[in-house]
Amino acid sequence: MAKIIDGKQFAADLREKMAKQVTSLADQHQITPGLAVVLVGEDPASQVYVRNKGKQATECGINSIEHKLDESTSEATLLQLISDMNQDSAINGILVQLPLPKHIDADKVLNAIDPTKDVDGFHPINVGLLATGGKGMIPCTPLGSLMLLQDHLGDLTGLNAVVVGRSNIVGKPMFNLLLQQSCTVTVAHSRSQNIEAIVRAADVVVAAVGVPELVKGSWIKPGATVIDVGINRIEVDGGKTKLVGDVDFASAADVAGAITPVPGGVGPMTIACLLYNTLVAACRQHQVELPPA
Ligand code: GUN
Repeated sequence: MAKIIDGKQFAADLREKMAKQVTSLADQHQITPGLAVVLVGEDPASQVYVRNKGKQATECGINSIEHKLDESTSEATLLQLISDMNQDSAINGILVQLPLPKHIDADKVLNAIDPTKDVDGFHPINVGLLATGGKGMIPCTPLGSLMLLQDHLGDLTGLNAVVVGRSNIVGKPMFNLLLQQSCTVTVAHSRSQNIEAIVRAADVVVAAVGVPELVKGSWIKPGATVIDVGINRIEVDGGKTKLVGDVDFASAADVAGAITPVPGGVGPMTIACLLYNTLVAACRQHQVELPPA
């Protein structure tokens, strides 16, 4: 049976360290990091995310600024708000919750965020900096996945890593992060041939395809480390639903050396890394070192 990688605990420990770093920043430099989150409309899942982001930011001593805008808000109004926040030195990180209503061009909005405040790491400048090994903002879910991998495996140099999924939010940045750690990285996706054989060659598997329980235990190399980024709600008997990942946990846990559960694996790392990015952004904007934890 695989070791279960406890992302919930790791995220809680990270938040505890960050709370200390935030205190040091205030004591030594009179800086309090500020994170602005913008929610347009009433999407229930987004409302839950935004509430959790605000709550956890506050617990770490980060100023949380929330803008809840009506579904009918115009693109021009949203762009003006972003421009105002770009100019506001009390705001170090800006996150616009996705998805946005259909009448708003999400790319235009994300591209309007000051790249140094882009704590999601979605701006093309940050995408380019990650690809070229520069000092940008790294997308939260891939960053959290990498932290869990490094905590479990230490140095990743030379390992065969397979990323299943090629999204801009997870698959592509994960590829770049693993390559930066000197892994041999393969990206498999919905059009890949013989995906099982590709996964079976991997010491590290990161599953981020959005297909419930796609990756089976029979695909996993014995002893491999499996990071499951998927969060899928599926129907079980009696009309009930449950959350599952992109990995068939029961069969994979018999073969893998270590595996993240869903829920309680990568999920809690995303918000923790958002707060981490906010802290890093505040330090860079003020040209001070990140205080030691
Ligand atoms: N919606 C769901 N996940 C995310 C995320 O990580 N960032 C943003 N901006 N919106 C999201």
